[in-house]
Amino acid sequence: MAFLSVENINVFYNEFQALFGVSMTVEKGETVAIIGSNGAGKSTLMRTIAGGLIPAEGLIKYEGSDTATKTAFEMNRMGVALVPEGRKIFPSLSVEENLNIGAYSGRSGQWTLEKVYELFPILKERRNNGGTDLSGGQQQMVAIGRALMSNPDLVLMDEVSLGLAPIIVNEIYTVVRQIAKSGTTVILVEQDVNRGLREADRFYCLLEGKVSLAGTPAEISQDQVSKAYFGL
Ligand SMILES: Nc1ncnc2c1ncn2[C@@H]1O[C@H](COP(=O)(O)OP(=O)(O)O)[C@@H](O)[C@H]1O
Ligand SMILES: [Mg+2]
Repeated sequence: MAFLSVENINVFYNEFQALFGVSMTVEKGETVAIIGSNGAGKSTLMRTIAGGLIPAEGLIKYEGSDTATKTAFEMNRMGVALVPEGRKIFPSLSVEENLNIGAYSGRSGQWTLEKVYELFPILKERRNNGGTDLSGGQQQMVAIGRALMSNPDLVLMDEVSLGLAPIIVNEIYTVVRQIAKSGTTVILVEQDVNRGLREADRFYCLLEGKVSLAGTPAEISQDQVSKAYFGL
């Protein structure tokens, strides 16, 4: 049985259907990329796995439990952490307070404030700064650090590179690799297809709410990827 399996889910925002029969599996320790153009349903899939949305149909199984109807807090307690698109840092709180929010689920494990500061030394220097005194890259580090503070077994990273300078993107991905290497399973959403494929063991491409292609980066041609991405 897979560590995570999503089976034929249909997800709606009121009347609007965003996901159509989406299925995917993730094994423990894998890094899996979700690629696809703007509006393809990537964030919807992440939110649904993380408990923020409940699929109208279909199943989600995480570590052997049916979790489709669990809340975000329950999923966090079970070891699933979302790094949301747009970072969602609390501007009125300090860096340290933002990080401590992640520990609210009360899971113990390798991640503590000190460990997060080792991973992102700049955050230690800025620990008392307000959430919005930070650069975009630093805010992204806070968002990742906050997720780690819940000691997740599965981290969902939604567009962690969006809007950041290339050098910062490289820094962020160096850390993502370290997180994966420490045994944490990672699902990363990337609009930058090349980056997504480079960082992942396997990928799924979404197109208009459906899986249009899946596989390992090595076995797929550029041409197949562009067709699956643009639907041409
Ligand atoms: N809160 C929402 N209410 C209504 N429609 C939404 C909402 N969020 C996303 N959508 C729609 O669902 C579709 C998928 O969006 P999303 O999952 O954000 O795509 P992606 O992350 O791939 O860019 C889009 O058509 C988007 O407009
Ligand atoms: Mg998105």
